[in-house]
Amino acid sequence: MTDRSLETRHDVERHFHDHKAKSRPDSDPHDFYAAGGLDEVWRAYLTQVGPLEGKTILDFGCGEGWAAAEYARRGATVHSFDISVESVRKVKGPVIHPAVMAAEHLGYRAGSFDLVLGVGILHHTELPFVRREIARVLRRGGRALFMEPLAHNPLLRAFRKLTPGRRTPTEQPMTMRQIAEFTQEFGWTDFRGYQLVSILPQGVLWVTGSRSLFRAGLRLSEAMDGWLLPRLPALQRYCWSAIIEVRK
Ligand SMILES: C[S@@+](CC[C@H](N)C(=O)[O-])C[C@H]1O[C@@H](n2cnc3c(N)ncnc32)[C@H](O)[C@@H]1O
Repeated sequence: MTDRSLETRHDVERHFHDHKAKSRPDSDPHDFYAAGGLDEVWRAYLTQVGPLEGKTILDFGCGEGWAAAEYARRGATVHSFDISVESVRKVKGPVIHPAVMAAEHLGYRAGSFDLVLGVGILHHTELPFVRREIARVLRRGGRALFMEPLAHNPLLRAFRKLTPGRRTPTEQPMTMRQIAEFTQEFGWTDFRGYQLVSILPQGVLWVTGSRSLFRAGLRLSEAMDGWLLPRLPALQRYCWSAIIEVRK
């Protein structure tokens, strides 16, 4: 990738997310995120992250800072950055240090962080640059955990084709190959898929807009995933979300 094409990619991302941050809060009843569709993965993510008291962490691609606020509430000193100026403007909190920067060229010193944490961000970035930067800013023995969407489920691929306006043209859900490349240079890695059967209630919400129907479907389907995925781990690649962990 040339400097010019990286710049173009950054412009597209910045413009899209600046616009989103400036527009009013979304009260769309069909909105999967607002209806709690990612809550289960987020809980699993926080459990895997573990205690944050006294840790210095980097919220990687922080958006408007909702996760940074949670990390700070749990006792961490949080540095956070995003490429969107308007998003970073909304990040608030006494122990949160927000900055505007690109993930591919971080302005932090080597070995600065115990933990690098990112939600829905790797798949917006140039992975070879980002992998190098994460390895640089983590202290030895430090961990990085990311919660990311996966590319392989045919139903989700169809849904994404039908709803292009919901995301930037430059983002790409992650393939297993990209994940393998991203993780290979770290000393230790872990991959877990979430939301296989439990993508189906998303369709119910999209069509009906009924949150109660959606939540009932979600409870049932999450229980099914909880049974199925540990028994058939090969199905994890078809999940919607994954938690990817690396250790330096
Ligand atoms: C799906 S949002 C996730 C934001 C936040 N982590 C959250 O969960 O709300 C993706 C974010 O990545 C940011 N972004 C995209 N490309 C970036 C890059 N190259 N460097 C830094 N941030 C970037 C966008 O501005 C946007 O805020």
